[in-house]
Amino acid sequence: MNNHTIEVEQLTKRFGDFTAVDHIDFTVKQGEIFGFLGANGAGKSTTIRMLCALLQPTEGTARVGGHDITDAPEKVKESIGYMSQRFSLYEDLTVEENIHFFGRVYGLTDAGLRERKAWVLSMANLHGRETSITGTLPGGWKQRLALGCAVLHRPRIVFLDEPTSGVDPLMRRTFWELINELSGEGVTVLVTTHFLEEAEYCNDLILINAGHIIAKGSPKELKSDHIKTPILELQCSNVIEAMSRIEQEPWALETSVFGTNLHVSVSDEASARSGIRKIVEQNDMKLYSIDRITPSLEDVFLYLLDRESEKKETMG
Ligand SMILES: Nc1ncnc2c1ncn2[C@@H]1O[C@H](COP(=O)(O)OP(=O)(O)OP(=O)(O)O)[C@@H](O)[C@H]1O
Ligand SMILES: [Mg+2]
Repeated sequence: MNNHTIEVEQLTKRFGDFTAVDHIDFTVKQGEIFGFLGANGAGKSTTIRMLCALLQPTEGTARVGGHDITDAPEKVKESIGYMSQRFSLYEDLTVEENIHFFGRVYGLTDAGLRERKAWVLSMANLHGRETSITGTLPGGWKQRLALGCAVLHRPRIVFLDEPTSGVDPLMRRTFWELINELSGEGVTVLVTTHFLEEAEYCNDLILINAGHIIAKGSPKELKSDHIKTPILELQCSNVIEAMSRIEQEPWALETSVFGTNLHVSVSDEASARSGIRKIVEQNDMKLYSIDRITPSLEDVFLYLLDRESEKKETMG
């Protein structure tokens, strides 16, 4: 069967009376990079563990590579690669020993293992470090080795649970290049992250909050579906004071600070622009620039999460 997709239907996990994953539905297409985003405790790892057939769902089901996670857990495990959030490598083994260990687990032949080992070493840029103790490698290198070990057996579907946490921004970028290469070879990749900016690298994504999916789509769809009002970005002195004054204006819908910039979503661009100039003049601030921007996914997610927490407050 040549089915490299993931189909999730009403998948639910309860721990006692706590619902960690609450009736979620989504589909991942073959060869795509599918992002699974959400804050700590949102339910990402629990979902992945169910999809890897390591944890039984309480309700609902999923098919991974054409196999039902409840009826055919062994088939699921054979079809996938899994890089867990923790413990994906043996820290006290050398680089080479980790590769050998995972090669054996996946039942590679000697010749197969030799070939894949060479591939992992070059992919993870670890030539010459074969005998280094894994625990002593910098975070980014370790994660690349972990990815290599997770795909030693050339799975067509790969689950990566926060592969870039604890990795510096530069290394994160090279890690994403590896993910892109896998997807370019037709491998389906489901990846979780809590770095919102990494969502831009995904073909499709979902945002999960407290076990519920609160948004789905491509980055482009998410931006155009949810944010219809203009967003102005301003650079000015006293960002925090500017924000508190702007928030009181009738044209200001949402404000958020991005580093030294302020993003303001506004109901009417012209009134907002003149209003902002007035605030700046009256309060002796300096305005360096004011531009209308296309929302980033970060804007979209902050907006959606904000809306969720407001919903919760009004429900009591
Ligand atoms: N075995 C378990 N028993 C009880 N509660 C659990 C168990 N595993 C997870 N949980 C709870 O379920 C919720 C979801 O956890 P999960 O690990 O899936 O979140 P996550 O989105 O992966 O978060 P993080 O970003 O911190 O990795 C959390 O509140 C967690 O405490
Ligand atoms: Mg997790």
